[in-house]
Amino acid sequence: MAIQLGDIAPDFTQESTEGPINFHDWIGDSWCVLFSHPADYTPVCTTELGAAASLKGDFEKRHVKIIGLSVDPLSDHEAWSKDIEETQGTALNFPLLADADRRVSDLYGMIHPQADNTLTVRSVFIIDPKKKIRLTLTYPASTGRNFEEIMRVIDSLQLTDQHKLATPVNWTQGQDCIIVPAVSNEEAEKLFPAGFTEIKPYLRTTPQPSH
Ligand code: BEZ
Repeated sequence: MAIQLGDIAPDFTQESTEGPINFHDWIGDSWCVLFSHPADYTPVCTTELGAAASLKGDFEKRHVKIIGLSVDPLSDHEAWSKDIEETQGTALNFPLLADADRRVSDLYGMIHPQADNTLTVRSVFIIDPKKKIRLTLTYPASTGRNFEEIMRVIDSLQLTDQHKLATPVNWTQGQDCIIVPAVSNEEAEKLFPAGFTEIKPYLRTTPQPSH
């Protein structure tokens, strides 16, 4: 069965550009973004890995470790990473799993045979410090992902874990949030001293609490 939200992320040990990784130990008490790309030496993947590397500092600020994967051998990852640095202006600064034996791809359902029988699709898993799956995304090989969107989801998850809030369409840091329906108006007054706006009884907004 496909991995679902709330599942514990399957653990594994696999080779990477930063040595063998035991996944749960490597995550430690951080958040994690695990993402697959179809293949080394391919154009879209080259741009994605460069973009992800350039966002490392933003991920670290949020206590997030990132880790990529494809079914290529370690020797290819190492040689290709020089191209990423040369063409994207940022060296690879996070591990890439070398999943040539498909151990992790199979565990996470990253190969979709009707799309491609051998290569991984562009999967994304956001995993929290308790190792729970908090987001899954699947993109086709032809579409590079938007890592700012992945960051946006992390911001939302970390905010809504702390407060009885949800975030509306296209929300980004600093914008108004939605008070979850389980909170009464009386409780909302106590929880959100900045006040709230009742647009409908089920649609109430409040400024984002400071974080
Ligand atoms: C790419 O990363 O450019 C790519 C990989 C597999 C299929 C199509 C594009």
